[in-house]
Amino acid sequence: MGKKLQVEVVFGATNYSIAFLLLLVWLFAAAFFYVNPLGSCNHQLTYWRNSLISSSSIKGDIAEENQVIEVIKQDPFKFHLRRLVRDEDRIELENTGFSCHSQISEVCISDRVFIIDNHTIHIPSSHPQFTKFMKPYTEKHAHHQVSSVQIVAGGGDNQSNSSACHITHDVPVVVFSGRGFSGNLYHEISEIIIPLFITSLHFRSQVKFVIIDYNPRWVKKYTRVLNRLSGYEPINPAENGTVHCFPGGVIGLKYNGIFALNSTDDIPGRYSMANFRKFLRESYSLKYENVFQIKRERPVLLLISRKNSRMFLNEREMAALMEEVGFEVVLVRPSGMSDLTKFARVVNTCSVMVGVHGAGLTNEVFLPSGAVVVQVVLLGLEWPSTHYYGDPTSDMGLNYLEYKIEPEERNLFKKYGRDHPVIKDPESIGYNSFRSVYVDRQNVRVNLTRFRETLVHAMELVDL
Ligand SMILES: *[C@@H]1O[C@H](CO)[C@@H](O)[C@H](O)[C@H]1NC(C)=O
Ligand SMILES: *[C@@H]1O[C@H](CO)[C@@H](O)[C@H](O)[C@H]1NC(C)=O
Ligand SMILES: *[C@@H]1O[C@H](CO)[C@@H](O)[C@H](O)[C@H]1NC(C)=O
Ligand SMILES: *[C@@H]1O[C@H](CO)[C@@H](O)[C@H](O)[C@H]1NC(C)=O
Ligand SMILES: *[C@@H]1O[C@H](CO)[C@@H](O)[C@H](O)[C@H]1NC(C)=O
Ligand SMILES: *[C@@H]1O[C@H](CO)[C@@H](O)[C@H](O)[C@H]1NC(C)=O
Repeated sequence: MGKKLQVEVVFGATNYSIAFLLLLVWLFAAAFFYVNPLGSCNHQLTYWRNSLISSSSIKGDIAEENQVIEVIKQDPFKFHLRRLVRDEDRIELENTGFSCHSQISEVCISDRVFIIDNHTIHIPSSHPQFTKFMKPYTEKHAHHQVSSVQIVAGGGDNQSNSSACHITHDVPVVVFSGRGFSGNLYHEISEIIIPLFITSLHFRSQVKFVIIDYNPRWVKKYTRVLNRLSGYEPINPAENGTVHCFPGGVIGLKYNGIFALNSTDDIPGRYSMANFRKFLRESYSLKYENVFQIKRERPVLLLISRKNSRMFLNEREMAALMEEVGFEVVLVRPSGMSDLTKFARVVNTCSVMVGVHGAGLTNEVFLPSGAVVVQVVLLGLEWPSTHYYGDPTSDMGLNYLEYKIEPEERNLFKKYGRDHPVIKDPESIGYNSFRSVYVDRQNVRVNLTRFRETLVHAMELVDL
């Protein structure tokens, strides 16, 4: 209603205000799409031509360029869909209207009609008919938690049965599962949100999301991200008997690996971690891009407190030490992190974040560049600690410090004694006992004398 009214007012207005409005629209487009909208068509043409040359050695010429302009004009979404595949996969998509490929995760793409009836997706194309089951989730280790979709593809273009459609949408669809290890911020960001970003940003909001294993809480948690990637409400295909039809789409999400944005040429826009962080800052209205923009008397240190496992047993003494070193300390408990929109803003005003290995550290994505992440690394968890939360910091432009605890600082030590294999040789015990001993039951009493050095180092990095 509100929007319509505005448009009417505009048309009744003077030339000056129309010009001003156009300028506003242009500025908005420029800010939103990261590019000059006037230059974007050129950019797409270059991209398209380059990829044609590399995939099938066709020399770029004027006829071809005209053909490309035709494709963009007639079917902008076809163009966007084809950008997600390369080489033989693109040729297959162009010839048959359907193609699946699997790098780390499996992704199927079609520029023909998608008829989505709950977990069954009909894609009539010129392929001989076939049926396949697929889990639309990036990481295989979570597949047991995720529902399958059944893809019934091929059988001839004339199979298209539009009388089956209850709602016919006019933009393409991206189908993915919202479950996985949902509830865990680390898995959600690395395995759903980053893949969704690299798969769908180039549609410029002209795309709808069909979420398998739809969970209203999850959707609410990521509303800001979802609304920025898609101009439409996400759809739960299992909600009622509604059959949704789309003019093409993607099943599954492109994935480069743990917290990776690799700028490969089947990622339209070749987004990097810097692009993703900018996207998050815009989605969550975060103020600071760089830590030196924060004007505070004392740098703020965020201490992530855990409740049931991997707890700091001397949290208060640690906080007192942090203040003594010169930080303003914000201690956050898990309940304080549940509202992502609020918490992202808190994190963005911090210069240092301290936590023990755990999903809470994923909030490092919201820190301004130049901030410091201090990870307290526990016994037996050196590899996942560094791999999950340490390594990604360099792409994020963050500083990273590790504080590795000594045997004496663990509660395990008291329980088992110095010579027990749990202390001496973590790798000798089996996976299940490993998980219960190291991941679930390892608490830590940090040695304040030693920890002070790490804090002083962190202070040096942010207090210039
Ligand atoms: C598909 O339908 C169109 C018109 O509806 C017809 O001209 C064409 O021959 C049909 N193709 C096949 C393979 O049946
Ligand atoms: C199209 O779908 C409707 C409703 O599901 C069904 O009744 C009809 O038989 C189908 N027609 C064809 C040609 O498959
Ligand atoms: C959709 O499929 C799921 C799983 O097969 C089922 O639990 C659900 O009831 C279905 N929804 C409808 C509306 O049929
Ligand atoms: C089913 O859900 C869609 C939205 O996904 C809605 O538009 C439609 O009215 C609903 N139909 C029924 C029968 O509730
Ligand atoms: C992305 O880069 C990481 C290292 O930066 C590498 O381990 C991974 O294999 C790459 N993934 C793809 C799909 O190229
Ligand atoms: C703490 O670390 C210091 C320096 O490494 C060491 O001298 C001291 O004994 C440690 N304290 C405890 C209680 O382990």
